[in-house]
Amino acid sequence: MNKSKNTDMEKKINNLLRKMTIEEKIGQLCQFVVDRSTGPEVGKNCDVADKIRKGKAGSILNVTGVKNIRKYQEIAVKESRLGIPLIFGFDVIHGYKTIFPVPLAMASSWDLEAIEKASRVAAIEASAAGLDWTFTPMVDIARDPRWGRIVEGAGEDPHLGSLIAKAQVKGFQGDKLDSPDCVMACAKHYIAYGAVRAGKDYDNVDVSERELNEVYLPPFKAALDAGAGSLMAAFNDVNGIPMHGNRKLIRELLFKKLKYDGLIVSDWNAIDEMIPHGYAENRNHAALLSLNAGVDMDMVSGIYESELPGLVKEGKIPVALINEAVKRVLRAKFRVGLFDNPFIHCNEDREKLNILSKYHRESTRDVARKSMVLLKNESHHLPLKNTLKTIAIIGPLADSKLDMLGSWYAEGEAKDVVTILEGIKNAVSPSTQVLYSEGCKIEGDNTDGFIPAIKIASKADIIIAVLGEAGGMSGEAHSRGSLAIPGRQNELLAELKKTGKPIVLVLCNGRPLTINWAKNNIDAILEIWFPGTEAGNAVADVLFGKYNPSGKLPVTFPYSLGQIPIYHYHRKSGRPFQAENPYSIKYIDMPSEPLYPFGYGLSYTIFEYSDIILNSDKITMGETLKTSITVVNTGPYNGRETVQLYLEDVAASVAQPVKKLIGFKQVDIKSRESETVEFSIKTTDMAFLNEHMKLVTEKGLFRLYIGTNSENLKEATFMLM
Ligand code: BGC
Repeated sequence: MNKSKNTDMEKKINNLLRKMTIEEKIGQLCQFVVDRSTGPEVGKNCDVADKIRKGKAGSILNVTGVKNIRKYQEIAVKESRLGIPLIFGFDVIHGYKTIFPVPLAMASSWDLEAIEKASRVAAIEASAAGLDWTFTPMVDIARDPRWGRIVEGAGEDPHLGSLIAKAQVKGFQGDKLDSPDCVMACAKHYIAYGAVRAGKDYDNVDVSERELNEVYLPPFKAALDAGAGSLMAAFNDVNGIPMHGNRKLIRELLFKKLKYDGLIVSDWNAIDEMIPHGYAENRNHAALLSLNAGVDMDMVSGIYESELPGLVKEGKIPVALINEAVKRVLRAKFRVGLFDNPFIHCNEDREKLNILSKYHRESTRDVARKSMVLLKNESHHLPLKNTLKTIAIIGPLADSKLDMLGSWYAEGEAKDVVTILEGIKNAVSPSTQVLYSEGCKIEGDNTDGFIPAIKIASKADIIIAVLGEAGGMSGEAHSRGSLAIPGRQNELLAELKKTGKPIVLVLCNGRPLTINWAKNNIDAILEIWFPGTEAGNAVADVLFGKYNPSGKLPVTFPYSLGQIPIYHYHRKSGRPFQAENPYSIKYIDMPSEPLYPFGYGLSYTIFEYSDIILNSDKITMGETLKTSITVVNTGPYNGRETVQLYLEDVAASVAQPVKKLIGFKQVDIKSRESETVEFSIKTTDMAFLNEHMKLVTEKGLFRLYIGTNSENLKEATFMLM
């Protein structure tokens, strides 16, 4: 935003503030829900229209559609004393009506352009449906697959997570946030929500200052640097202080240190929840703590509305503090363009034209196939020929529409989804017979369906087993204590194996699962997560080789539940793992390595890496090191590879991680051709937080790793002098 526009906006905000009564100011800090709840049922029985009329509401959430939104906005601008527009928010997590793959899936594409495009399409549809604001992206780093909300984010790595956060903000907010087809982004949930104890949603968080700064903060910083207009506080505490009362991490870190001037919204009813949390004594105390901490807007608890007037009257909250919070709300409304045109997103023609358009369906199909990860293809059964005589498609997720949308699908509708069975039928030749049997349900113990499933499997040339979790088994309030494929599905798979037919396992899930048996026994495994509206067509594109899979895991797959937490970016030990050495870091009853490491993903073709070339093995502070590697596609298909760059600081004044991802590049390489990939490494890429939490770069020996995943890498060393 340019400077003069900024000063102009601040002037207008101050003028408006002068005209507002204290009740009207507090009104701007209150967000009400209409229609549906996205948390415990609170705040639904109030007369929202009356509150808007009286200037006692600043925002509404969970109303969609131009007609509905226009109705409330008209009351605000025409019937309230000052005519301040409302701002309408909704969770458009991975699409509005055209549903894209779940965020963890999109992160598996490592394709920032594709992710930005998905957010752009979501913004085009959401803004066409009257919305101004989305509670996206979720930028919480998540390293515990038991946590259901791992599905909503970009996985375990702060570098990848930061780049994805930036791409999402850019996609939602576009080049000009006040354009009619943009919506304001909200980076959430600030902060360390992914670190909840034992992966249980809403549990406590204990993190060191180092981990907070090195792991959990970077994606928020990236989102803010990309201009995210708002940020949402997290349900959890951090080391005993609930985030909604955490002055140190909001007011001091975000406002003072990082100079953030956007809007901070509470999470659903979370100001009130500081009472059971054992931090606030009562609602009045909760309001005091929360406003002091820097939470500007109260989502549905009603606490700001009922408590702030009294607190101001008693002098416990200075008007200046209220003014500051109101300014943040008004600034957000200005930035979205609501003061110029309160109906900027209320255009029925756009609503009709833009939502679920052909282009949007094509976009989600493209992103979905880029998000799939080929985990195994040992006997090269994939890609399949579309002229196979008989294919047996088996499993409870094969013909499911709703599950393909994942757990948080906004206004997505099952009826618009292409199932995997439908997608495969669309793709095969007329002479191919496609047989289908459900086999069993996703959960439960009934195995009656095994017999018909085995019967059709025995007739087929190949079995495609579509198994995994239900779409709703991950997401908020859906943590799991087991990472197994649920119900009797594993047994079904074992029965199918007995037929002796080749099997392709197509896996649907919102988190890493422990799939050891499948890894050891099944011929091919394709991780598809929850691919969205065009699920079936995208799966068929990959299975039949119209798209050569290129996804890479953004999160480690554990060998067993007992390995958790397991992630690639961890500090070194004095007794690093050595297979033959019992006195080294390991378990006695299971492998130390994960089932599939971070960054892992195969292709139908083969990529071979040359050695690393460095322009020098010594650099001095401030210099740039240039490095390159040649990747040869020695296989029979054209393909896309994500070349990953990791760095290890061999010895430092604070022990560093075994290695950190510091870059990656995607290259399309034709069969039998090669590409040379270059990286420039700055000495700032070698920086870390020292003992005093200051960012420093120290001289010494570094190891550089380049390769196809976090375990399979070429190595070179250099000195920083
Ligand atoms: C979730 C948020 C969401 C909010 C509004 C809460 O329960 O934690 O992620 O944005 O509801 O729907």
